[in-house]
Amino acid sequence: MESTYAARYAGWRTDPERFWAEAARSIDWIAPYERVFDPQRGPFGSWFPGGRLNTAANCLDRHVAKGAGERIALIWDSAMEGRVTRHTYRELRDRVAKFAGALAARGVAKGDRVVIYMPMVPEAAIAMLACARLGAVHSVVFGGFAAPELASRIDGAKPKLIVAASCGLEPGRVVDYTPILDAALGRASHRPDGCLIFQRPAAPAALVAGRDEDYLQAEAEAAPHDPVPVAATDPLYILYTSGTTGRPKGIVRDNGGHAVALAASIPLIYDAHPGEGAASDVMWTASDVGWVVGHSYIVYAPLLAGVTSVMYEGKPVGTPDAGAFWRVCNAHGVKTLFTAPTALRAIKQQDPDGKLLKAHDLSRLEALFLAGERCDPPTAEWIAALLGKPVIDNWWQTETGWPITARFRGLGLTPFKPGSGGRACPGYDVQALDAEGGAMTPGEVGALAIKLPLPPGCAPTLWQDDEGYRRAYLDAFPGWYRTGDAGMVDADGDVWVMGRTDDIINVAGHRLSTGAMEEVLAAHRDVAECAVIARHDPVKGEVPLGLVVLKSGVDRDEAAIAGELVALVRERIGPVAAFKTAIVVPRLPKTRSGKILRATMKQMANGTAPVVPPTIEDVSVLDQIATRLAGQG
Ligand code: COA
Ligand code: AMP
Repeated sequence: MESTYAARYAGWRTDPERFWAEAARSIDWIAPYERVFDPQRGPFGSWFPGGRLNTAANCLDRHVAKGAGERIALIWDSAMEGRVTRHTYRELRDRVAKFAGALAARGVAKGDRVVIYMPMVPEAAIAMLACARLGAVHSVVFGGFAAPELASRIDGAKPKLIVAASCGLEPGRVVDYTPILDAALGRASHRPDGCLIFQRPAAPAALVAGRDEDYLQAEAEAAPHDPVPVAATDPLYILYTSGTTGRPKGIVRDNGGHAVALAASIPLIYDAHPGEGAASDVMWTASDVGWVVGHSYIVYAPLLAGVTSVMYEGKPVGTPDAGAFWRVCNAHGVKTLFTAPTALRAIKQQDPDGKLLKAHDLSRLEALFLAGERCDPPTAEWIAALLGKPVIDNWWQTETGWPITARFRGLGLTPFKPGSGGRACPGYDVQALDAEGGAMTPGEVGALAIKLPLPPGCAPTLWQDDEGYRRAYLDAFPGWYRTGDAGMVDADGDVWVMGRTDDIINVAGHRLSTGAMEEVLAAHRDVAECAVIARHDPVKGEVPLGLVVLKSGVDRDEAAIAGELVALVRERIGPVAAFKTAIVVPRLPKTRSGKILRATMKQMANGTAPVVPPTIEDVSVLDQIATRLAGQG
């Protein structure tokens, strides 16, 4: 079995252009590409220059044309509404064509941006695909972000239109989106021409005259729009993600490379296949369309491959219980389930013996895929034993758009090593490098890097910022893409991702910047300086913890200030930051040159013996921090 993976990987290494040219045959091109890869264009090169295609037509129209119109494309299962809906490929194509017509009637054309701020409803996927149909560039914003985050994405993408929902549904509360949208538009300097609002029965919005229109009415009244040919190198979407500063990075995805890589990944990694006519494997990615995993494996990849995708609105626990995932798998005959380890830890906490799991028929489920954060071995082993099916960790990032490493169902599986992300996917040469860019020996931890060029599907640049892309990813190790992750490659070639080398933390599978949180804390009138570090959490993996020093002379109640800081992060970044704890400390530990010793404090907060650098300015500060951390519990 292993030789099958080895042969495929070697095939890519020997002749990468031939490998990708073969993969490109699964896509319908309107005009053939001139070259597979042009190393001269963009920060590291461009895939399939000269080629023309339409991504939405590849996701929908071509399957309908080949007789699969009655196949289910999208199953929407909402634990929040207690409803299930299904769209066949034909129905989805027709709705996307009409919504594209609605966008076009409002002036959206090829190259224009559209911000989509929506929860997990089919209309979010329809809006994304409608943009793709027009060659417009969508930028989806996750519902758990607050108004300032939405505003910064509006100012970054400068959308012609915004498509939003009236509300999202979280357990126990309705999240009204329109006040957040109003506040974001109040803050943003860019003015879109208007907003299309999808009204949900739980909380319809009062539409703002002259600005807002009803999504469904606009769709109903529109004439269907044909797919617009775009260049392979034209942007399909921008997805903002946390960088090392408060300003999110606009990750750009192109059309051609993305379609080729994602379509290839479905049989190779996920082993999902369409059948004849209406038959198909069912793939369920329990993520959110606001994240890259949702873009790639709820919407684009399953549809490019012509399989059935499940979109789930709900949580792994509490909607109504820890059996929710198994109910959905059973109800829809799911073959591959893809989720984040944090969801499994939440389920494990409430159903450790798998009683709820065993109550469902999971005979059609063949494998469980995990990504978004490192899966701790106990969780991987627990679920592998309970399910008795392969568990496949795959490591990737918003930037790459599809897995860097995996185990390969389509090639026979490489061995299960709990805690490892598996082997490099064909297309990626992954190595651990030392600080000078030299290769580490197998098993040694270093900075994980990918040899250039990155494969198709990976971000070719940042939105209108080639220089920023080079600075962030290419300058550190010439000839390599710096992933920002630390880890090792073992003697078998399995990659182990240990954590980030920058200030990004992973909270319940959500990528967040502690630097951005520090900027918020520092803006509080009583705060002189601060540090945000990650503390281990049994379910979320990591949660942020703020340590703040007050300005001299401030003698307000510390608990009140801490409460204000928690509220401020929620208001500026959003509930998704899960920032619940701020501790006032007399001083922060620093080196003699003034560098805050965040790593040392992180070790203390996580109960490991701190490594104290000899350059520490005043070691007694650590005792003060230890006392405050102990007092806080
Ligand atoms: N819109 C509005 N608010 C949202 C939201 C959204 N789309 N998503 C999350 N939030 C809010 C939650 O309501 C919660 O608010 P609270 O502080 O008032 O309770 C807060 O943001 C934190 O949410 P979350 O991180 O989801 O924590 P949780 O405690 O509600 O649930 C898990 C914990 C593990 C069940 C949940 O995080 C989960 O399912 N994670 C999977 C993550 C995932 O799929 N990641 C994608 C990468 S593959
Ligand atoms: P995002 O861009 O939100 O997908 O987050 C990407 C980051 O999440 C990576 O750089 C890793 O730090 C982490 N990550 C994602 N998948 C894995 C995995 N399978 N194992 C370890 N870390 C992961």
